[in-house]
Amino acid sequence: MDKQQTTASIPYQSINFNHKFSLFSEQWSQKVIAEMNDYQFKLARLEGDFIWHAHADTDESFIVLEGLLRIDFRDGHVLISAGEMYVVPKGVEHKPYAEHEVKLLLIEPRGVVNTGDEGGDRTSALDVWI
Ligand code: NI
Repeated sequence: MDKQQTTASIPYQSINFNHKFSLFSEQWSQKVIAEMNDYQFKLARLEGDFIWHAHADTDESFIVLEGLLRIDFRDGHVLISAGEMYVVPKGVEHKPYAEHEVKLLLIEPRGVVNTGDEGGDRTSALDVWI
């Protein structure tokens, strides 16, 4: 495949977070907007309390685009405002909480389940693209 063919398959269009958020209103439901190697960029809306869980095999990044996210740990918590990010190390129990709706960008390896090993009705479907 020559270079012209390679580049011809690339859509020259930026991915706009506000536009993507306009396409869904469900909360706690992760939507894939891009992939980079084995990683996915996902958007989510969070409001209220999540469940305690951990991810045995991967760190988890939280990038807050709008709102104020609190992540509780067993021995403390962190507040993440719009324009800020935080990385939860793998294996560490955590519980996100948002008093008002938070718009979030997540960057995770493909296949990571939002509830870790806990399951339950807050578990988001994987690989839902918007
Ligand atoms: Ni998590």
